[in-house]
Amino acid sequence: MLDIRIEKTTTPKELPSKDNPLVFGTIFTDHMFIMNYETGKGWHDARIVPYQPIVLEPSAMVFHYGQEMFEGLKAYRSDDGRVLLFRPDMNAKRAINTNRRLCIPEIPVEDFVDAVKALVKVDEAWIPTNPGTSLYIRPFIIATDPFLGVRPSDTYQFIIILSPVGPYYKEGLNPVKIWIEDDYVRAVKGGIGEAKTGGNYVASMASQVKAHDAGYSQVLWLDGVHRKYIEEVGAMNILFKINGKVVTPKLNGSILPGVTRDSVLHLCREWGYEVEERLIAVDELYDAAKSGALEEVFGSGTAAVISPVGELRFEDQVIQINGGKIGELSQKLYDTITGIQLGRIKDEYGWSVEVK
Ligand code: COI
Repeated sequence: MLDIRIEKTTTPKELPSKDNPLVFGTIFTDHMFIMNYETGKGWHDARIVPYQPIVLEPSAMVFHYGQEMFEGLKAYRSDDGRVLLFRPDMNAKRAINTNRRLCIPEIPVEDFVDAVKALVKVDEAWIPTNPGTSLYIRPFIIATDPFLGVRPSDTYQFIIILSPVGPYYKEGLNPVKIWIEDDYVRAVKGGIGEAKTGGNYVASMASQVKAHDAGYSQVLWLDGVHRKYIEEVGAMNILFKINGKVVTPKLNGSILPGVTRDSVLHLCREWGYEVEERLIAVDELYDAAKSGALEEVFGSGTAAVISPVGELRFEDQVIQINGGKIGELSQKLYDTITGIQLGRIKDEYGWSVEVK
């Protein structure tokens, strides 16, 4: 059990009004978690303190070489008043893999989950309850050595902040329009594509701006070698229903292993769908759309939950999916996953973890 010192704020903020929609990632709660690392001493001084700016040297390594990682998960308030997390151990395990790739010291799964639970407990009054809302949890680690040489830092801070959120996309559960990028690439096998780190997201921004300007919400990446196989969308994994089968790119080292993706595949298999994790060429997708075999397209992610895709654009070719409406499977997955997250549907998988 992680030993956490708690210092509560003496000037609590006003909770957001239930009457205004929560815009993703704009409001932060009263407290934050911090723990320090030093080579030779390990992780130490775990504490929950009032939410505040962090003070770093301008030479801190995170600013220069991007040695940092992050995670994303959510807390929910069930109808009977319990506080529930969704598969926090999966985030903790993925964090270990990310840390290994980025030479950041690992945090044991139990300590990661204890830290999340302790902070959520302190700020549980901030968990919103309007439909489609939740408390987004953002754990991250930054390299803090004041040093300009390129090597792993000897000091780090592990921080967790909390943000009451509504839907990630302004479209909510209405289908989004996605731009398939044919110029830049996000990641290659052997790179850092499967690590949850800022570098993968900054790599997406130039394409995202281009896509936004053309009226699209997000970018769908093709593989970095052949520029032909579907990988993932900016903030979510991508899945297709083709001829009744659920098809998604396999985790090949350059794709983020999503917690929601894993949950979706598990449910689909259980519901009797044939599920294929494999290479999907963009041509295959367009052929499937032409022949009518492409039944549904949707993204999955913690922030995005299940996000139906209504239109794809690749070069000059635009395809409409399911008449721009949410598909039956996408809706069922959304209802089931959010139902489990909110404690409304029996959790037969041990995915919901109560914060007591
Ligand atoms: C999440 O879904 O939690 C993510 O980290 C995506 C993020 C870029 C908003």
